Parts: sequence; C-alpha cells; structure tokens
Amino acid sequence: MARRKLIAGNWKMNGHLDHLRELHGIEKAAKSHADVDVAICPPATLIAPAVQRTPGLTIGGQDCHEEDRGAHTGCVAAPMLAEAGAKCVIVGHSERRADQGESDADVQGKALAAHRHGLQAIICVGETEEQRDAGEAEAVVTAQIAGSVPPEATADWLVIAYEPVWAIGTGRIPTIDDVAAIHAAIRAKLGDIIGGEADGVRILYGGSMNGDNASDLLAVDNVDGGLVGGASLSADKFVPIIEAAAG
Ligand code: PGA
Repeated sequence: MARRKLIAGNWKMNGHLDHLRELHGIEKAAKSHADVDVAICPPATLIAPAVQRTPGLTIGGQDCHEEDRGAHTGCVAAPMLAEAGAKCVIVGHSERRADQGESDADVQGKALAAHRHGLQAIICVGETEEQRDAGEAEAVVTAQIAGSVPPEATADWLVIAYEPVWAIGTGRIPTIDDVAAIHAAIRAKLGDIIGGEADGVRILYGGSMNGDNASDLLAVDNVDGGLVGGASLSADKFVPIIEAAAG
C-alpha cells in the first residue's frame, strides 16, 4: 500500500530560541514538497515558540510521561505537549531507554498517553552493536516491537522508527539489505499485534541519515521515511533529505 513518507527531525538537547530561524527554510521545503510529511521535534521549551513562528510545520515532542499529571518532577505529560501545539511525540528513543532506563512497557504507556491526547506516537526500536554482532538484531527489534506497541494502535497514530543504536551519531549505517530485512521483520511483527493496520504504519529509518545517503535508504522496501538527528539541526542539511523523500 502507498504510505506517505515522513521525515522527522529530532533536535535532542540542542537549540535555543535563536536556533528556530532554521525552521523557516524547513517550513518552506515542507510546503513545496506537499507529498512528504515533515516534522521537527525540538526541546520541550521550544515547542510553543516553534509552533508560533512556523505554523505550517508539524512540531513534536521528544518524550512524554505515561500519566497525564502528577508528582513526577521534571517530566512532561502528553496533554502539555498537545497544549503547546505538538502534533506528535517520539517515545522510547534509545538514548532514553539507556539513560533513563525506560522499558518496553514504559514505552507502550507513553505511546498510549500520546494517543489519548491526539498526538502521533513515534516508537523507537533498535539493537546495540553487541546484539548485531551476536546475530540478534532481528530478535531484539521484534521483541521491542512486541513489548512497546499497544495492541489497539492504528496506522493513523502509530509510527515506528528503526534506529540501530550503533548508527546513531556515528556516521555509520547498516547495509541496504540489513535495513530491508529489519524493516520487513518489523512489519510482519506489527501484523501479529495490530493485524491489517500494520500495512499503513510508517516505519522510519534513523541513524546517521543525511543528504548523501537518504535517497538509497528511502528507496528500500518498507522504509517510509527517516528520523534524523544531527542533520535536522540546520535547514541546509535537512532540506536535501526532504527532497530525497519527495523523489
Ligand atoms: P543521528 O540521530 O541522525 O544524529 O544519527 C538519529 C536519532 O537519534 O534519532
């Protein structure tokens, strides 16, 4: 089935108010490639000003708590992101799984919280280098899918991002065949969990995607877009990826 490509930028803990000027060029490219969905996920403090300055661009969060309110110092709830104007949120990024010890069950709760408040959930999965070297990549990733994807998820609010941990911020990417194999395995596992909805779910590739490798990665079967870290911080680097997705 035809799935619209989604190119999402993850600014991580980078950027201040003055950095939002980069969004103008990104918004312009998003408008001129209307067949591609484009989103930027800046730090939480920049969501509201980003929405205000570039209303034509989809803005998202980088994490949300599984509960809607409560005694969780430092956390951000999905309804708060929605109120700030976010339309989507990344959950279960490998940096949070590693730094904050987030489990698959936590990630599933976060995805459900996102959906309760009208946000698309971008659930991240990916193997470490040791797991890949041990031949466990597919098993690890499909187990993360099984544990993190809510059985009630539908294609209009669920997005998956396959991000091999060893490819994030390193300049290294898997082979095209490896990407194809994992993305196919993810779609098959999604079918076990959410049935026919699996066909419509976008599965993004993430990890050192840039203007040079995007066309090859985005041409792989079952690669429906990209989750982009470093190269999303400037319009100059991000726009060529949007153009590659537009074909
Ligand atoms: P990278 O990060 O593009 O800088 O490798 C991707 C990510 O962590 O989402």
